[in-house]
Amino acid sequence: MPTSSGLFPRNFKKTFPIATRGEGCWIIADDGRRFLDASGQAAVVSIGHGVPEIGRAMAGQSSQIAFAHTSQFHTTAAETLASRLLAMAPPNFRNGGRVYFTSGGSEATETAIKLARQFHLECGQKDRYRVLSRRQSYHGSTLGAMTVSGNVARRAPYEPLISEWGHIAPCFCYHCPFDKTFPQCELACADDLQAHLGGQARDQAAAFIFEPVVGATLGSAVPPEGYAARITEICRKNGILLIADEIMTGMGRTGKPFAVQHWSVEPDMILVGKGIASGYAPLGAVLASARVVEAFERGSGGFLHGFTYQAHPVSTAAGNAVLDYLEAHKLFDRVNAAGQELRCALPLLQSHPNVGEVRGLGLLLGVEFVKNKATRQPFPREQNIAEKIRQACLEEGVLTYPTQGCVDGLRGDHILLAPPFTISTAECSLIARALLAAAARVFSS
Ligand SMILES: Cc1ncc(COP(=O)(O)O)c(C=O)c1O
Repeated sequence: MPTSSGLFPRNFKKTFPIATRGEGCWIIADDGRRFLDASGQAAVVSIGHGVPEIGRAMAGQSSQIAFAHTSQFHTTAAETLASRLLAMAPPNFRNGGRVYFTSGGSEATETAIKLARQFHLECGQKDRYRVLSRRQSYHGSTLGAMTVSGNVARRAPYEPLISEWGHIAPCFCYHCPFDKTFPQCELACADDLQAHLGGQARDQAAAFIFEPVVGATLGSAVPPEGYAARITEICRKNGILLIADEIMTGMGRTGKPFAVQHWSVEPDMILVGKGIASGYAPLGAVLASARVVEAFERGSGGFLHGFTYQAHPVSTAAGNAVLDYLEAHKLFDRVNAAGQELRCALPLLQSHPNVGEVRGLGLLLGVEFVKNKATRQPFPREQNIAEKIRQACLEEGVLTYPTQGCVDGLRGDHILLAPPFTISTAECSLIARALLAAAARVFSS
């Protein structure tokens, strides 16, 4: 039955339960149904739902000072969170880096695009404006973020509104765009950036943006060893900035504070969102490295950009409280162990003839469904397998995050598993059981 409220829904053909309470890894609806949140909603919730300390910290901040415009004031909440994020970041952020807080991921991407453009203006390189990116990627839903996103289905309706700055090949070994295998491929997908920079982008490129582990679009595709380092080297050689979109992978989700730290690379900017406040408040951020900041300090002194709600005191207070909780409960250290427990619960699913691959890093896992396991052939898009799996899991009381298009932007079905870091062994088993039941139901019909 279509929803009859005044709220503009994501889909007019669907009904949505009313969420009334959250407890740990569970969401409870107004009709009493309990759902196990195996996807942390959209890879957002890290510390679990309903942690009272966070609400208390937000109320405390709100009763002291709820809002102060950043053109007139800074607040301790924002200053503190900025320092803490920089201390967790790679070394090139630590002495002289700065944090620009936004209200979410897409605003962080927009900010990074403009920061890259103005960085080059500050350095006297006025032709540089293109932010290169990859096909099969997602960086947000605002128009600048859509321009760099390479998600065919999400771009399609808005093509007339968005530019084309250049997209290179994705890094996706399970469906390699070059039909090669690592390591014989010699990282052809990374070298595609250099090939691209030899063309039109040579003098106009400002930056390259990438998801270190591709989340929703490819179902947690982890690059092979050497990819991130090769990309960094190419960016340096060509004088362009490297932007790591860690909106999904950041704040511990893959087992390190930031996913780039798995490969010890030092991007010029890191974007965060989602887990930064674990969903307790709308918050995102751009971490700008010392080199980027220096260009502004030496140059014009001001970034021509701004949002009314940037560095919001209550949101940044939530960010600090979430970080306190992660540290006090040693949850950053729990991610790898919990990720292993979840994987260990999935072997029966993995051996299912229609499960092509279970992949990922830490607590960001993807399960891809295929028509033919030997050839990795996807199902036709019209069969809508990912959505059917989501629906079947929902009927088992488990929430997952489905996407289509991992093969070529249209075909290819996968779901994302990204539960809170507090997930227990018993809850991992419940997720595995629900997925098996869902696969049995969807593939026998
Ligand atoms: C990698 C990545 N970048 C950007 C975004 C956009 O973030 P938001 O939805 O908070 O605007 C997302 C959201 O899914 C994302 O996964």
